[in-house]
Amino acid sequence: MPLASAIRTIPDYPKPGIMFRDITTLLGDARAFRRAVDELVQPWAGTKIDKVAGMEARGFILGGAVAHQLSAGFVPVRKKGKLPHTTVRIAYSLEYGVDEMEVHEDAVVKGERVILVDDLIATGGTAEGAIKLLQQIGAEVVAACFVIDLPDLGGAKKIEALGVPVRKLVSFE
Ligand code: PRP
Ligand code: ADE
Repeated sequence: MPLASAIRTIPDYPKPGIMFRDITTLLGDARAFRRAVDELVQPWAGTKIDKVAGMEARGFILGGAVAHQLSAGFVPVRKKGKLPHTTVRIAYSLEYGVDEMEVHEDAVVKGERVILVDDLIATGGTAEGAIKLLQQIGAEVVAACFVIDLPDLGGAKKIEALGVPVRKLVSFE
């Protein structure tokens, strides 16, 4: 079964006009979940990845599984006010709003190779913010990986223009 058919679409959520791509159905399907994680990690199997960074909230689920698979550490990139130690913070915009995200300033050692994981890239605002934060604390961001790409919103192109290769498994026009 193609991965796309494990993803549910909810029209007009969280705002009118948004076609929300819901991965809870994929996560609840053991074979689809395993396949998504296996496909996300495939280019980096056997290479040295020090850390996987996952974006709150859905990037935590996939990023944790990817980190385990690569024997890498995990770095949570969180919405503002949730991390207890000293952080660096950045404002960002996404398909349906604006917010701020943070990462612990000591989450990586300078020069560590990090891949970023999230469920979906739309405008790329979230991924761009996370890449900037990770670079600010010394990470080498070697790739950004997503189960879903919404190419009409241009996010993947925006991230590749920053010099970070993008891996995506499923596209929805
Ligand atoms: C969603 C998704 C990505 C982001 C993508 O997260 O999980 O993180 O939007 O949008 P962008 O490419 O336009 O920035 P959301 O902010 O809805 O948070 P959640 O995972 O906590 O629901
Ligand atoms: N994040 C940004 N746009 C989204 C969408 N259309 N579906 C699910 N998550 C999203």
